[in-house]
This record gives sequence, C-alpha cells and structure tokens, in this order.
Amino acid sequence: MSGIKICGAGHYAPPKLVSNADLEKIVDTNDEWITSRTGIKTRHHCVEETHSDMCRHAAQTALERAGIKPEEIGVCIVATFSSDFLSPNAASLLQRDLGLLNDTVCFDINAACSGFLFAIHTAECLLAASPRKYGLVLGAEMLSRFINWEDRGTCVLFGDAAGAAVVEWNEEYESLGAVLHCEGDSEMLGVTGSGHKAPPQIFMQGQQVFKFAVNAVPSCMDQALTRSGKTIDDVDFFVFHQANTRIIDLAVRKYHIPEEKYYKNIEKYGNTSAASIPMVLSELTELGKVGPGSRVMLVGFGGGRAWGAALAEFK
Ligand code: UT7
Repeated sequence: MSGIKICGAGHYAPPKLVSNADLEKIVDTNDEWITSRTGIKTRHHCVEETHSDMCRHAAQTALERAGIKPEEIGVCIVATFSSDFLSPNAASLLQRDLGLLNDTVCFDINAACSGFLFAIHTAECLLAASPRKYGLVLGAEMLSRFINWEDRGTCVLFGDAAGAAVVEWNEEYESLGAVLHCEGDSEMLGVTGSGHKAPPQIFMQGQQVFKFAVNAVPSCMDQALTRSGKTIDDVDFFVFHQANTRIIDLAVRKYHIPEEKYYKNIEKYGNTSAASIPMVLSELTELGKVGPGSRVMLVGFGGGRAWGAALAEFK
C-alpha cells in the first residue's frame, strides 16, 4: 500500500466580478436563461492579474494551511491549458515565485476540466520516487482570454481562477485509486491552437457535452469505488467539477447523496475548468465541511473528452 493525503488547499479568484446582468449588455442573453440552464450568477475575470499571480496566491495559501515550506516540495504540477507562456510552463514559474528547490520536478498537464485529477494522480506516482514527500498540485485557468464573445452558448460559462492542494506521500497511506479516461475528440469541446489561423477560442457542442457528462460521471464514480473497495457510504464528501448545476444534481439524485455531502460554487465562479475541483477543496476546508480523516471523491469531466474520479483522504 502507498499513496497520498491532502494536507492543505488554497484558492484564488481575481476581484473583477462579471454578473449575468453585465453579460446582458454585450450579448443576447438574460439572467433567467443563464441561471436556469447552468446555475451561474457571476464569474471572475482577470484584468491586471496574470495566470502566474493566481497560481502563486492559491499555492501560498495551500502551503500555509498545510504548514509546509517550499523547500519540502518534491513535485509541482499545474493542470492548465491557459498559462501565461507556452514555454516556460506555469509550474516552473511557481518554482521561481515560491522558491521551490531547483530539483523539484515541475511541469504542466493539459487534460482540460479533468486536469486536476490527472495531475494529482501523476503527483502520487512521482512522489513515490521523490526524496521529498510533499507535492504541490494546482488547477489554474484564465479562460476569459479564449472566450468567443460572438457565441452566447459558451461566453457566459467560463471564469478565471486557481486552486491548489499540498499532498503528502506515505507508504502507509491508501492510494487515490484514480480512474482516468480519454477519448480524443477535437469537435465536442475544446480551445483552438496553433493548427488554426485565428487566435485561440473556446468551442463547444453543449448538448453533446451534457449527454457525455451525465453518463461519464456515474460510470467513473462506480469504477473508482470498485477499484478502492469502498461503497458510496464510505465517502464523506463528493467534489464534482463545476460545469453545470444540473449535471451535479443528476449525479446526487442517482446516488441519493444528501445535501450535506456535496457542494456547489458554480453560482459564484462559473466553470473554471481545471481549477474547479481544487477550488471546492479549498472552500470546503475554509467552511470546516472537511477535516482530518475526511474521505472525498473527486469527479471530473470535460474538454477533449477526458474524465475520471479518485478518492482522496485529508490528513
Ligand atoms: O467543463 C466542461 C464541461 N462542460 C459542460 O459540462 C457543459 C455541458 N452543457 C451544458 O451545460 C449545456 O448544454 C449549456 C448550458 C451549455 C446549454 O444549455 P442547453 O440546454 O443545452 O441549451 P442549447 O445549447 O440546446 O440551446 C437552447 C436554446 C437555443 O435557442 P433555440 O435554438 O432553442 O432558439 C440557444 O440559441 O438556448 C439558446 N441559447 C441561449 N439563450 C440565451 C444558448 N445560449 C444562450 C444564452 N442566453 N447564453
């Protein structure tokens, strides 16, 4: 047996709030449509802040809450596809900004909205081989840069934010037992890149993503439980990617998950892609809804058609 536990979590969202009423002034939309279809009321957009600023703030909070010094970190992974530079990666900018030792393994992972799950699983694997047993794992996105303001189906959905978790590896801890999937798809949901002439832009076939998500979520939850030998009752809290309140509602109804065992912050932040799961982890610790010994199920799904689930315990 070997695995990781979460020792602390932090998050950051830039101060500029964009309300549904603000959006009504620039696109053909309205508060009633956005609220009833998505659950979103506001989202935060960067103005002066950089992606690195968001990462630094979230990571510093997570380190403080964990009581861990930068020099104790052996692995630093940022899940993102919207960092300040294509190169250097966001994790190496954190190495510089936080003063992580220069032999810390620092790199980024792109698995869109499921990125944090891929990153935390990778950290668990790498920490087993690291001389320092603490890892820093982030999900951070500045999707406001990629919004297509001509597309009302997507421009109302996304916000900027970063979330971070400090994890500790120990040979006595249980593994996350992460189940991660992808089925490469460049049409359903994504952001264009260097294969396109125009600047990067978000594209999405909303209904297809919705149908995919409502199947993918329970299927990977079941797989994660089977893999770890746990039942739904062994889970203290469910942390879903915050893409649409209706997708979360369908999952909690299917598993009869009581209200005190799941959390939504999509109303405040919109869809922050890879940041959404660690943002929830951070808010849960602030609210005292999770603490030492709490077992949480992390569930992610989204762009590129990637999805997965894992069970993580708080130290
Ligand atoms: O994080 C990655 C994962 N992403 C997701 O999970 C997103 C999953 N998909 C969704 O959440 C939903 O599909 C949306 C919220 C994006 C869209 O909701 P929908 O119920 O699937 O709406 P729709 O795309 O079928 O559009 C219904 C109508 C259309 O009008 P007509 O053709 O019926 O006249 C759209 O043009 O709503 C219209 N519409 C809007 N109306 C007002 C689309 N966007 C807007 C808007 N405001 N912002």
